[in-house]
Formats: sequence, C-alpha cells, structure tokens
Amino acid sequence: MATSPADNLLELAALPIGMFDSGMGGLTVLHECLVQLPGEHFAYVGDTSRFPYGEKSREELQLYSRQISAFLESVPCKLIVVACYSATSAALPVLQEEFETPIIGVVIPGARAAVETSRYRRIGVLATEATVASGAYPRAIHALDSGAEVIQQACPGLVDYIEAGDVASQELADAVRGFTEPLKARRPDVVIMGCTHYPLIGPMLQRFLGRDVTLINPAAEIAREVEAMLTRQGLERPGEDVGSYRFYTTGDVDRFRSTGARFLQMPLTRVRALPLERLGDLVRP
Ligand code: DGL
Repeated sequence: MATSPADNLLELAALPIGMFDSGMGGLTVLHECLVQLPGEHFAYVGDTSRFPYGEKSREELQLYSRQISAFLESVPCKLIVVACYSATSAALPVLQEEFETPIIGVVIPGARAAVETSRYRRIGVLATEATVASGAYPRAIHALDSGAEVIQQACPGLVDYIEAGDVASQELADAVRGFTEPLKARRPDVVIMGCTHYPLIGPMLQRFLGRDVTLINPAAEIAREVEAMLTRQGLERPGEDVGSYRFYTTGDVDRFRSTGARFLQMPLTRVRALPLERLGDLVRP
C-alpha cells in the first residue's frame, strides 16, 4: 500500500534531531535541548579527534561540517543543529545549500538575544579565533541593528583548559582575566558567550566582566529556535514518552563517555565510534 504525505510526516517526525560539534562542547547545547524538548530523540556527533575547531581554517571547517552533515543525513535525522560556533561561522550557508535536511546554526539565536537585551547597543563577543575571523557575529548583529557596536575578543587556548576538565584553576583564571580585561575596557553592557565551552566558566567570566554586564548563554535561545522550527514544519515527535539520546565520536569512546557526562550533566550510555575514514568516504576534500 502506498504511504500518504501524512504517514511520511509521521515517520519523519519520529526521527532524531542530529547535532554535531568538534567534541564535548556542543553537549552544553544538547543539555538545553534535552530540557526544553524532552520528547525528542537526539543523535550527537563529537569530532573529538579533530578538536579544536577554533584554530582551523574556513576550508577545513567546511569540509568537516559537510562530512558530518552527510553522516547525520544518512542516520537519518529530521533536522541538523550545528552545535559549534566555529563550524556555524565557517560553514552554515554552505551546508544549508548542499543538504536537503533543514540545518540550523548557533550564531543567530545568541545575536538576537544580545540585541534584544542590550540597552546601550554595545555588544561584546567572546569566541574562538575562527569565529572572530569569520565576522559571523558582527554580520548577524548588524542585520538586526546596524548601529550597534560589536566588540569581539578571541580567546585562543581557552577551550583547552575546559575540555581537559579545568574550570577553576589559577592558570585558567589568569587566562580569563587576560581576555576579559581588554573587552571590559570597551564597556559592553552585554557579552555573548560565543563558544560552546564558555558557559561552563560562566561564573568566572561574570566576575571578571563585572555585575553590570549581562552574559548571554545562547544555548536556551538555540533550543527555542529548534522547537520553533519543529513546530513550523509539523515535525514534533508525537507521543508523551521521553526521548532517547545517542552519541558518535571520532575519538576515544571511553574518554567521550566519561568527560561527556560533565558537559551534558547527564549520563552518556550509548556511545559509538565513528572512524574518520567513514566520514572521508562520504565527502572527499
Ligand atoms: N566548539 C567550538 C566552538 O564553539 C569550541 C571548541 C573548539 O575550538 O573546537 O567554537
């Protein structure tokens, strides 16, 4: 018997939401989605063996993002979230053009929240070198308010501490001070944490930036954007039961499981290896 469009939509709605990042960081975005969208299934790829993305070129990030999107499309997934600011900044338009599955990124939701929150229209951005170099945040903010001042601060090396589990050492605090001081001197009233890892050191960033600065964690906005997209397309998973989540890593499975739990603040049970050769077979350089 032939399936009707309504049957197809139901089948599509039952599929997981795909998500990817350079490693563990995107789990902070997944965490927010698990809270706001408890009925959905999720399939997450952490490209841990090619971490960090923040120091990679635009071309490399586009290739990695295309490979992982091709994999997630083959799972299959009903929607893909690029849960990495560096990858979004370098590759989102390329992915949206190439793939049939709807794809959303993480830059625009935070930019929108910052414009809506800023009183003095002086918006700071803390991000990786790749994100800063792409100009994605100034573009997204100026599309909403062309008169807003955007003050970007790249934080090279900061993710390495956090990825290794260090969120409170003196060395980390010294590095954070070094990055926040020049930003603070330009007196932003709102600062976007434009990198997956920074929400894990939110209290430290807030202390160095001062209490007059509103820190934006885009993860909640991203989850709202995912929800809005599913509603618009009639793709919310039907039923009342709680969804599941599973993981693929290009690196070490055991390490992903143990370190990932800290980022997700939930246990990670279903973790599988995703060899780079398999990604290479899907999209070649
Ligand atoms: N996920 C990256 C980002 O949000 C940070 C970690 C990395 O450099 O790979 O930009």
